Order: sequence, then structure tokens, then C-alpha cells
Amino acid sequence: MMKKALLTLTALTLLASAAQARTWDEIKKSGTVRIATEGAFPPFNLLKGNQLTGFEVDLANALAKGMGLKVQWVTQPFDNLLIGLNQDRYDFVIASHGITPERARAVDFSNPHYCTGGSIVSRVGGPKTAADLKGKTVAVQVGTTYLQNVQKVPGVGSVKTFPKDTDAQAALLAGRTDAWVGDKFTGLDLVKAQKGKLVQGDLLFNERIGMAVKKGNSSLLRELNAALTKAQQDGTYAKISNQYFGQDIRCR
Ligand code: ARG
Repeated sequence: MMKKALLTLTALTLLASAAQARTWDEIKKSGTVRIATEGAFPPFNLLKGNQLTGFEVDLANALAKGMGLKVQWVTQPFDNLLIGLNQDRYDFVIASHGITPERARAVDFSNPHYCTGGSIVSRVGGPKTAADLKGKTVAVQVGTTYLQNVQKVPGVGSVKTFPKDTDAQAALLAGRTDAWVGDKFTGLDLVKAQKGKLVQGDLLFNERIGMAVKKGNSSLLRELNAALTKAQQDGTYAKISNQYFGQDIRCR
């Protein structure tokens, strides 16, 4: 698993060279920005029927509107998102990527669009702390900071990876793993939805989440950051955040 993660990042860094990403001027002239997300990470990005929705989808739509652009959404499995970005399949990615040094070598990140953390969720009576994870089986989504951080827990049993976060959650519910580590806000919703069956334990780590542009696409990055700042100043951001979380989840 460790090996696979390393290989993926190396591949990503190598792919970063080839073609040229669309600059801000090119995007502006075309009138449409192409944005990629996963569409399977509630409440941040998800498909409801064939309708893409969630905090990040609403936020990116608002940012594009602020930039005077139409949006063409693209959905990709989470693990392919940054690779496709470096192949110029779309202009930017918004899919709850934690800003990590490894990823920042492959892509450029915007200012964080929210702050969060990874937390432990288990069935009632299950592991709640990092120490409790000793010898236990943990489900996580592949290619995530959850995987990275769970692997660092001393004595952790086996870590099972799933292509989708929702599949990792299902494994916990079905009793196939002792715990699931995922986003703390997602965990909160999950525990609520599965009333009485699941409990949320400790936060394992904190992270700042950003949007990604192809490495070196500084003109788009500048506009994206400006649009985010404006949305955070004019109440647009707070309104969307409150709709999904009942609070403002920007980094402070
Ligand atoms: N925040 C975690 C990370 O940075 C998980 C992101 C998962 N996103 C998704 N769309 N499934 O790796």
C-alpha cells in the first residue's frame, strides 16, 4: 500500500510536464471553466441522481459565477483527479484535498477553502482513540490523508482501502472492519444517520483543504484565490457553509 502511494505521486510529478494548462485569459475567453470533483464524498461533493451537489459544488459554482464563467463539471474517481489535472482534462479540482507537501510537489493549491480533520468512527463499544486502534482493522478511502495518517498510528492492525469513502463506511457498518477513519464532518453526519449504531471518536489529525490547479498555472490560481476571498467577504461563503454544516467552516 505504501509502495502504491509513492508510485502514484512519482507518476503524478512526471506527468506534470507535458502539455500546457489553460491560462486565465484562455479560460475567460472561452467563457467556461472545467472543474473536476469526485461526486461521492458527502456532504462536500456528491451525486443526487445525476445532479452534482454538495458544499464544494455549490462553492465552486459561486466562485465561477463571481469570475463571470459558466461551469462544465467533470467527475472522476478520487484517485485519478490530480492525474487528470496534470493531463489538462480540466482547469481545477475541488474534491476535499488536504494540502500536503507530497501533493504540493505535483500540483499548486489555492488558499484553503475549509479546515477540517480526520476522525475515528466505530460501532458502539468499538475503538475511539488512536491507542484503541492497536491491532484493529480500519477502513479508509484509497489515496487519502486518512490512509497516510492511519498508517502512522503505532500498532494499528490492518488498514483496508476502498476506492470510495462511502464503501469504507459500508465496511464498518457491515462489521467487516473495527473502525472507519474519515472527515470529521462526514463522520458527524454518518453517526446521525445511523442513530445508535455508530459513535464518533477522537480526531486523529487536522488539515487545510484546498483547490488544485496544474503546477505553474499561476494566472488561474490568482483569480481563484481572489474569487474565494471575495466570497468569504461578501457573505456568499458563509451562506453556503451554513446550509451544509450549520456553521462557517473556513480556516481561521
Ligand atoms: N481530505 C482527505 C484527503 O485529503 C480526503 C479527501 C477525499 N475526497 C473525496 N472527494 N473523496 O485525502
